[in-house]
Amino acid sequence: MNHAQSGSRGRFITCEGIDGAGKSSHIATIVESLRRRGVAVVSTREPGGTALGEKLRALLLHETMHLETEALLMFAARREHIARVIEPALARGDWVVCDRFSDATYAYQSGGRGLDPVKFAQLEGWVHPLLQPDLSLLFDLPAAVAARRIAEQARDRDRFEMEHVTFHERVRLAYLERARVAPQRITVIDADQSPERVSKQIEERISTLCL
Ligand code: TYD
Repeated sequence: MNHAQSGSRGRFITCEGIDGAGKSSHIATIVESLRRRGVAVVSTREPGGTALGEKLRALLLHETMHLETEALLMFAARREHIARVIEPALARGDWVVCDRFSDATYAYQSGGRGLDPVKFAQLEGWVHPLLQPDLSLLFDLPAAVAARRIAEQARDRDRFEMEHVTFHERVRLAYLERARVAPQRITVIDADQSPERVSKQIEERISTLCL
């Protein structure tokens, strides 16, 4: 019997890390691993995940805007995502694997952009007072290594990917600080190693969650 059949609430897993950490392929590993175990999975992303959220994503990734507008739009997209996708999925017993969530706002808009994190705690209290991920996987690697990986990809870069390596190093440190204060929720995975070794660590962490 899977979780949906047993009528229990699904689990909420988020994946975080600086640009170039290889999140997308690691998320595919997580989703595959859960499905093999018979878990119904909704794989989604932020900003985005809904029709409106994807429009906001396009603005956030490509339009110049005030720093606070950027942070508020992240939370606006999140509100829509939680209401339309995340909460309904968890309520029916599906597990949700989300590419980024509020940790990203703390890391990018506070660590990277320098906004006061107290504001995000207030917005979290408004947008998702009762919802926190059951598990967050933080794919960690030095910003200089991530920058080399991004440079090797032949595609246009978005506003965040175009930021200087020092911006990404600040984002990284903010993520690591969040992991330091919430070690039960956030598992740091060394992403500066082979995809096979990263997959093995993901597999180990996921199996403890499935027990
Ligand atoms: P990302 O998830 O890395 O997508 P891709 O895999 O296509 O590169 O891109 C989303 C960008 O949005 C990323 O650079 C981080 C940024 N972001 C924030 O700055 N704050 C947030 O709260 C979220 C969710 C994302």
